[in-house]
Amino acid sequence: MGGVTAAPLLQSDLPLAAAPMAGGPSTPALAAAVSAAGGFAFLPAGYLSAETFADRLAAAHAAGPSFGVNLFVPQSGEIPPEAYRAYREAIRPEADALGAELPAEPRHDDDAWREKVALLVAHPVPVVSLTFGLPDRADIAALQAAGSRVLATVTTPEEARAAEDAGVDGLVVQGPAAGGHNGTFDPRRTITDAATADVVRAVAAVTRLPLVAAGGVSGPVDVRDLVAAGAEAVAVGTLLLRATEAGTTPTHRAALTDPAFTTTAVTHAFTGRPARALRNGFAERHGAGAPYGYPELHHLTRDLRRTAALRGDPHRLHLWAGTGWRSAEERSAGEIVRELAAAL
Ligand SMILES: Cc1cc2nc3c(=O)[nH]c(=O)nc-3n(C[C@H](O)[C@H](O)[C@H](O)COP(=O)(O)O)c2cc1C
Repeated sequence: MGGVTAAPLLQSDLPLAAAPMAGGPSTPALAAAVSAAGGFAFLPAGYLSAETFADRLAAAHAAGPSFGVNLFVPQSGEIPPEAYRAYREAIRPEADALGAELPAEPRHDDDAWREKVALLVAHPVPVVSLTFGLPDRADIAALQAAGSRVLATVTTPEEARAAEDAGVDGLVVQGPAAGGHNGTFDPRRTITDAATADVVRAVAAVTRLPLVAAGGVSGPVDVRDLVAAGAEAVAVGTLLLRATEAGTTPTHRAALTDPAFTTTAVTHAFTGRPARALRNGFAERHGAGAPYGYPELHHLTRDLRRTAALRGDPHRLHLWAGTGWRSAEERSAGEIVRELAAAL
């Protein structure tokens, strides 16, 4: 490996990070295993109440190894109530099939942004990464004044410029092959296919900020290519979904090895924001008709998706997966991370 390090941004022994995966897959055990293997672990704060986040933050600080925290930036704009109601009717048969609840009224919230920033200012971590756009400069500055390096997730050179202008210390460059939500600042933008290495090169051409690349990694050669393209480190999500320490639901895990799933696609049908998932029945039935509206659609389908996971129904669950999903293996996260560094 030639002593490659991820300094100065992540300061881990290996230039590899466990991407933040909110909603269950990222666990303290996964973070500990990745850190022990020399990688850097991101703890997702997304979807957590302020109280739960406070508990997880305290536990992570107590556990010792350096880690990062990932926050969802609040979204502006609310879905028109009639669009919400029409979509609620369209997906009612899905909920009825599972006995799940569909909230009657749209719910817009900021994912407890203020409280989470205040907790991070009071109990700082080395790295805070942001996704879904940029917050007020004052929030970035407050996190930096507390001692954190702040990273913005960007998906285009234009977003990279805006993030640099806002004063961040580095960028997570997320390619469209990435599993889970796309970090695009504009959720209505059509997500077109591109190799992550090409997005990294395009971003590196407009900024000198240090870059972490993410999206579509399927093995050590991809890691090597992303570093060669200009990334200081590479973050992987999908390849850790089947790790023994991950909190991925059994239904999601089973789908990742089910030959009935043959491709991934970007859809906003589950949450109102584009995300890459295994193409399943819900995405096929509702992908074309779904309105945009995050987090309202996230809340609308939440109980439906939770119930689908419990009932073992992969066709009504958001099966987040990047294009490298076939290479995800059921092994310890430490082994996965060490092997990913093998071509460096
Ligand atoms: C299940 C899942 C959950 C995710 N949750 C988050 C999140 O909370 N915050 C975030 O910034 N990115 C999230 N992502 C995106 C990852 O951080 C990362 O960009 C992506 O996993 C990289 O692509 P890959 O999955 O092909 O490795 C998630 C991805 C997955 C697969």
